[in-house]
Parts: sequence; C-alpha cells; structure tokens
Amino acid sequence: MAADKGRVAVVTGGGSGIGRASCQRLLDDGLRLAVLDLDGDTAKAAAGTDGLALAVDVGDAEAVQSAVDRVVDEFGRIDVLFNNAGITGSRAAARCHETPVVEWDRVLSTNLRGPFLMTRAVLPVMLAAGTGHVINLVSIAGMVATRGRCAYTASKGGALMFTKSIAADYAADGIRCNAVCPGWVHTPMTSWRLDDPELGPRVTAPIPMGRVAQPAEIAEAVGLLASEKLAYVTGLALVIDGGVTSTIMI
Ligand SMILES: NC(=O)c1ccc[n+]([C@@H]2O[C@H](COP(=O)([O-])OP(=O)(O)OC[C@H]3O[C@@H](n4cnc5c(N)ncnc54)[C@H](O)[C@@H]3O)[C@@H](O)[C@H]2O)c1
Repeated sequence: MAADKGRVAVVTGGGSGIGRASCQRLLDDGLRLAVLDLDGDTAKAAAGTDGLALAVDVGDAEAVQSAVDRVVDEFGRIDVLFNNAGITGSRAAARCHETPVVEWDRVLSTNLRGPFLMTRAVLPVMLAAGTGHVINLVSIAGMVATRGRCAYTASKGGALMFTKSIAADYAADGIRCNAVCPGWVHTPMTSWRLDDPELGPRVTAPIPMGRVAQPAEIAEAVGLLASEKLAYVTGLALVIDGGVTSTIMI
C-alpha cells in the first residue's frame, strides 16, 4: 500500500463532459485522482500527472472490484467517490412500451448498477477509515420525468433514492452521500441536440435563465461538496438547473 500523499478521489466517467471538468476542479483543489472510464485514453488525459487511469465499465462487477483494489494498492485511501458515468440511451425518444429491453438494461447498468457496484466496492475502504464521501451525479430527470426517456428517468430516480439510502445507512459511520442534479449541460452527451439550430432553442426556451449550463458550473458544485466544507450535509439533492424545476410551462 502506498504512503498517504493527500486526499484521493475516484471519478467514474471522468474522460468527458461533466466528469472531465470535475477532474480538473478536483486536481486544482489538490486531490489525487483515479479516473475510471470506458475510454482509458480520455481517462488518462483527465487523471493528472500523478493520477491513475483505468478502462472500466462501471456495470461490470468484477472489473469494478479489481479497479477499486488497484486504487487502494496505488493510493492507500479513497476519500471521495464521484459516481458520474452515465448514458441517456439511444437518441430516439422512447416511452415504456417502445423501450427495447436491451436499452433498459444498458441504461440501468451504467446509471444505477454502476453507482451501486462502485459504492459497494469503495464502502469497506471508507468504513475502515471512518470517513468518506460518495457524490452521485444524478439529474433533474431523477426528480421530474423527461418525456420519452423512460429508462433514463427511472435510472436517475433510482440513483437519487440510492443516494438517500447510502446517506441514511452510513451517516453514523462518518460517511456522507449527496447527489448533484443538473438540468441541461452542454457536453458531448447533449451537443448533438443543443448545437442543432432547430432543437437547441427548444431546449433553452423553457429554462428561466435562458441558457444551458457549462460543465465547469457543475464541477464547481462537485468541488464544493468534495471540499468537506459542507460537513453536516448528507442525502442532499443539489439542483443546478437554471430554474427549470422551479416553474411549469403554461
Ligand atoms: N449533459 C447533461 O445535460 C446532463 C444533465 C444531467 C445529468 N447528466 C449526467 O451527468 C453525467 C455525465 O454526463 P455528461 O453529459 O458529462 O456525458 P458525456 O457523455 O460527456 O460523458 C460521460 C462519460 O462517461 C463514460 N461512460 C459511459 N458509460 C460508462 C460505463 N459503463 N463505464 C464507465 N464509463 C462510462 C463515457 O465514456 C464518458 O467519458 C451522466 O451521469 C449524465 O446522466 C448530464
């Protein structure tokens, strides 16, 4: 086991978008990173010079356990787990009866099974240390339904309640769990729609602030939570949506 060289964060899906911006924010704050992503090359680019990058599918139980073991061997500790990896599924809108079973399984595997497997593997390390913080990147889709996104909405609703379950079960062990719930953010996940001259304005029109967020604005919240300045906060759903869930379109 390596000597303690400071706080360590494990970030899933750190190779792109919100995860990538959050890696930069955590590096700026002096944390060392283990970045787990399907794409090992982008993970390497995000992990910083003394970081660890691993190509991992967060829905794969064995791969997740070996990756967490590798992080502990390398760094000797895990202070923050940022479960960020996520997918929306295919671009075609799908209500329940139109959702292929493979699509449901794929989305749930990454967005719900992934955080479960990662947290399950990391918790023994945090329990041994008597401290730790799990931050789940959820979405406002976990609080209000996104029409035509049955699997995504269900996965994010599950991820939000998973957050509260961990918060309730591990608070007495010194371990906290919070959710970050963005509205629309301009990332490779959404740019195909946001950059489209017809579809983009339809997204921004109902947003009271009149614009989508940039990844760095979400990373700011992740950095603040990870800083441990909000030490009494657990089970929180931190909504960052430019006002979308504060109103209804009539
Ligand atoms: N972009 C938005 O508008 C928005 C809004 C709310 C919530 N979110 C959530 O934010 C998170 C990040 O989204 P983003 O917009 O940055 O997306 P993105 O597509 O830019 O990045 C996602 C990253 O996760 C990785 N990934 C995907 N599946 C994986 C798996 N099974 N195992 C490991 N890594 C995997 C990808 O390789 C990629 O690097 C997701 O959970 C998403 O649901 C995004």
